[in-house]
Amino acid sequence: MSYQRALVTGASSGTGRGVALALAKRGTEVWAAARREELLRELCDEAAAAGGRVHALTLDVGRADETAERVEALDREIGGLDLVLANAGIGPPIRAQSMTWQKVKPMLEVNVMGCIATLTGALPGMVDRGRGHLAAVSSIAAFRGMPTAAVYCATKAAVSTFLEGIRIDLRDTAIAVTDIRPGFVKTPMTATAKTAMPWLMELDDAVATILRGLDRREGLVAFPWQLAGLSSFGRAVPSTLFDPLMSRASRPRRRA
Ligand SMILES: NC(=O)c1ccc[n+]([C@@H]2O[C@H](COP(=O)([O-])OP(=O)(O)OC[C@H]3O[C@@H](n4cnc5c(N)ncnc54)[C@H](OP(=O)(O)O)[C@@H]3O)[C@@H](O)[C@H]2O)c1
Repeated sequence: MSYQRALVTGASSGTGRGVALALAKRGTEVWAAARREELLRELCDEAAAAGGRVHALTLDVGRADETAERVEALDREIGGLDLVLANAGIGPPIRAQSMTWQKVKPMLEVNVMGCIATLTGALPGMVDRGRGHLAAVSSIAAFRGMPTAAVYCATKAAVSTFLEGIRIDLRDTAIAVTDIRPGFVKTPMTATAKTAMPWLMELDDAVATILRGLDRREGLVAFPWQLAGLSSFGRAVPSTLFDPLMSRASRPRRRA
């Protein structure tokens, strides 16, 4: 599968940057969106040096109305996006004991509203053309609530559930919908994490797995398989067992 034109949000660092660059190297014209314009410019230069084409799109997906309008306009202006990857996300840890609405709200705005606004902005054009590919980076965290990550898990569960619904709506069309659920990946987001990160993946491996899943137009791309399997199985574990296990697992790592 090769895409002619793709939009990737959260493309200034980590997973989004990796996927945007890999797509550009394969010949896809990429619109790379994020707030930090200087990082997007560096990405454009790196892609150009490799013979690819990336356009920087300064966008704050936390402004959901504007995001949906700008994606819809972009889709119209460039003659149609084949792939939209809503990847932008934030995940600061928030423990219930120190939770305030001021801390919760930005994550809902970016991870839920921003993500769904990005996808929704592209929908009318894809529906008109009868083809395309919508994808979002959710997380293994979508499977269950986890300590210090209640809000993050809830945002990812919302995204995954949204994707599942539109995938069924669009089942008889040529519009694919992919729910990407990574485990732990080495990106700036995990660089300062203090909790255990089992099966922490290299960014290049995560990018390759995502591209493979997109190429195959899979509905769900959950990885690494060990964590995906455990998380999927974990959904059936009763709370009486799940709660104490997760509570213990979330304690800060001991210094060697
Ligand atoms: N790393 C992991 O272990 C892991 C695991 C599962 C899922 N994920 C998900 O993977 C996605 C990418 O995260 P990452 O690990 O690659 O982290 P990252 O390196 O911190 O990248 C996050 C990206 O999101 C963008 N972003 C944040 N807020 C934004 C906003 N308001 N408007 C536009 N862009 C915004 C950032 O760009 P600017 O700051 O320049 O705007 C950046 O490009 C996220 O959705 C995350 O939840 C990560």
